[in-house]
Amino acid sequence: MMRLAWLTDLHLNFLEPPALARFVDQVASLSIDGVLLTGDISEAPDLRRYLQLLAAAWQIPIYFVLGNHDFYFGSIATVRQQVHELCAADPRLIWLTDRNAIPLSARTALLGHDGWADARLGDYERSYVQMNDHRLIAELSGHDKRSRWTILKQLGDEAAHSLVERLPPALEQFDQVHILTHVPPFHESCWYDGRLSDDQWLPHFICQAMGDVLLAAAARFPHRRLTVLCGHTHGRGAFRPRDNLLVFTGGAEYGRPEVQHLWEIA
Ligand SMILES: [Fe+2]
Ligand SMILES: [Fe+2]
Repeated sequence: MMRLAWLTDLHLNFLEPPALARFVDQVASLSIDGVLLTGDISEAPDLRRYLQLLAAAWQIPIYFVLGNHDFYFGSIATVRQQVHELCAADPRLIWLTDRNAIPLSARTALLGHDGWADARLGDYERSYVQMNDHRLIAELSGHDKRSRWTILKQLGDEAAHSLVERLPPALEQFDQVHILTHVPPFHESCWYDGRLSDDQWLPHFICQAMGDVLLAAAARFPHRRLTVLCGHTHGRGAFRPRDNLLVFTGGAEYGRPEVQHLWEIA
């Protein structure tokens, strides 16, 4: 039996050193074999420092994906390259976007991709929501709304295509696959303040391309189980779009990181 703690949206850069130390110690005191971390760890300038700090403190594998905040004050290309190099140098840090399915047991594997809100659901053109992503991430800043729309769709498609290549082989081999991603893949998994998000927020809160891939895989492999862990909206909820597909969205509050759940993998 393997025990894994699921964490999401830690936003560690919002913590003063004593609160950071308390949280790191709290997780270190758990009797666990690894950590699942679904993005928004901090922001680009200090992301490496925090990942190194967590790996050194916990001394167990940290399976993670990145969230939109992890690219703030940086660029997607540069952060991804830095994280790739960091993980190559430290085997405790496992960036799932970069990896094929990882066996956790004879029956269960782990897979993931950062994902990206792809502005397909809701009403992007009329949305009044101004995401900081659009100012603070190099690839998204300096564009008008329409040209940024194209980039958001491309980022969603990139996540989906990556899963199209890696998910079916994993489902051929394993009874169940746990999939980590930052952005919820379905409207019904998009919780915010205890309710589902509206047309204004949906473009920025869902990766529809990823959802389509998950539905297709669940239909193609009806006897396999897919469990998705995501974050981003900071609203806790669960949604079962198919008998064999279950999506958990993690809750979060800035400055108060918490353990979402302890998973036992048989
Ligand atoms: Fe977040
Ligand atoms: Fe996020």
